[in-house]
Amino acid sequence: MDLAFLLIDLFFAGSETTTSTLTWLLYYLATHPRVQDKLQAEIDLVLPEGQQATLDDKPRLPYTEAVFHETLRKSALLPIGLQHVAEKDTTVGGHFIPKGAVLNGAIFTIHHDTRYWDNPDEFLPERWLNDEGKFVTKKEGFLAFGIGKRQCLGESLARMELLVFTTTLLQRLSFASPQGKTLNLHQDTQNPFVHLPLVQDILVSVRA
Ligand code: HEM
Repeated sequence: MDLAFLLIDLFFAGSETTTSTLTWLLYYLATHPRVQDKLQAEIDLVLPEGQQATLDDKPRLPYTEAVFHETLRKSALLPIGLQHVAEKDTTVGGHFIPKGAVLNGAIFTIHHDTRYWDNPDEFLPERWLNDEGKFVTKKEGFLAFGIGKRQCLGESLARMELLVFTTTLLQRLSFASPQGKTLNLHQDTQNPFVHLPLVQDILVSVRA
């Protein structure tokens, strides 16, 4: 029975998360055409003629990495992470936490905290690049996959999926808001524990 629940956990944790992150990414590209142009230019240069991305290509795709991180930061898919229980009395940052207390992370809040991010409500992949255009990992203020012993088990798989799907899609397609419409970038409020994108139409065109 334990094995069955573990498999169900993996299935849900592994499918909805990457699908929704990819959807957020396409919504952000559709509403930020300049970002999409830059992303496609980088992908076309590094992966010409529809070449498929591998992990080895990552260092040559800094803007792509920046777009992924900015998507993960802004969307904050699991806004309060998963629940954890304190196994013993402890103190963190001067706060006493009794054994048995249920704790959540404040992932969305941290991802929008001006102590870590300038203009946090804006979608700005450039914030992840240094002056030479190289990708810089910002550990502090970025908790999309949680932290510590119980951090996301599927992080590497999710990153790989994002890389392959995004580069393959952007090699062939472009995304935009349907004519005369503005995409709604607010989350679906029906599920406060997962920051899901709203289901809506998006204009997809085949690249020349
Ligand atoms: C973009 C995609 C994903 C995001 C943003 C994400 C995010 C997270 C977060 C925030 C946690 C909670 C960590 C904590 O409590 O500190 C978590 C846990 C977990 N994730 Fe993911 N995840 C993603 C994809 C995946 C995939 C693809 C898999 C599996 C194939 C997966 C499996 C798990 C599992 C099993 C846990 C629980 C780990 C534990 O409690 O020890 N996730 N994830």
